[in-house]
Amino acid sequence: MSQRMSEASKERRAAWDPNLYDAKYAFVWKYGADVISLLAPQAGERVLDLGCGTGHLTAQIADSGATVLGTDRSSEMVNAARRKYPHLQFEVADARDLRFQAEFDAVFSNATLHWILEPERVIQGVWNALRPRGRFVAEFGAKGNIRKIQSALDQVVGELGVARQGEINPWYYPSIGEYAPLLEKNGFEVRFVTLFDRPTPLEDGDAGMRNWIAMFGSDYCAKLSPENREPFYRRVEELLRPDLFREGQWWADFRRLRLVACK
Ligand code: BEZ
Repeated sequence: MSQRMSEASKERRAAWDPNLYDAKYAFVWKYGADVISLLAPQAGERVLDLGCGTGHLTAQIADSGATVLGTDRSSEMVNAARRKYPHLQFEVADARDLRFQAEFDAVFSNATLHWILEPERVIQGVWNALRPRGRFVAEFGAKGNIRKIQSALDQVVGELGVARQGEINPWYYPSIGEYAPLLEKNGFEVRFVTLFDRPTPLEDGDAGMRNWIAMFGSDYCAKLSPENREPFYRRVEELLRPDLFREGQWWADFRRLRLVACK
């Protein structure tokens, strides 16, 4: 696997539409409420929310009385977060290039780290950002995340001849056995780690899968000409329908890695 986020992926990820994200994919941050419980932020603590998106979880963390800085590499997301929560602090920052030095009691991250193909750069930046005994609390896609969706996308770009099967790989989904050693190698003590399935319903009925792919699978969509876009979606839907379409709704075959690691 390439150890870098592809340039195309970076640019499109950075340009997500915050309104669409909030309107159709609110589950991304709603599921994060459980991760906040694991974080258990305390009044007076200083917390970094890495990959804050439109800031909903940053605001929930701040409700505990902690002082929170939300960061995201997308300026669109950060601007939307600032508009929604003008009393909170947000900054554009790339999680691979964190410059904080022993400033935070905790670093929190929900549904972000699977976008970054250089996990050790993130882990090192988080380590440096934490004060001694600080904690890193995160959840993101685990090994096997969207296995069925990704395999259909791969198969169909291959069938259409627009990319070789496996050539496009925008996501990092580690197992516990891959990620915990990376944390330990970089000084962390892993206190808790779990991997679980989270099948998740997508909005928009029959259009749910193609809309999700259009929003999040842009590395695949970028390979398509206008003429093969519709055949692409139809074939992907055909392959996935037996497993992921139930009672008028599409489901994403998400799996999650959730962890607490201490400095
Ligand atoms: C996820 O939340 O697991 C995910 C989101 C977008 C693309 C791929 C995976």
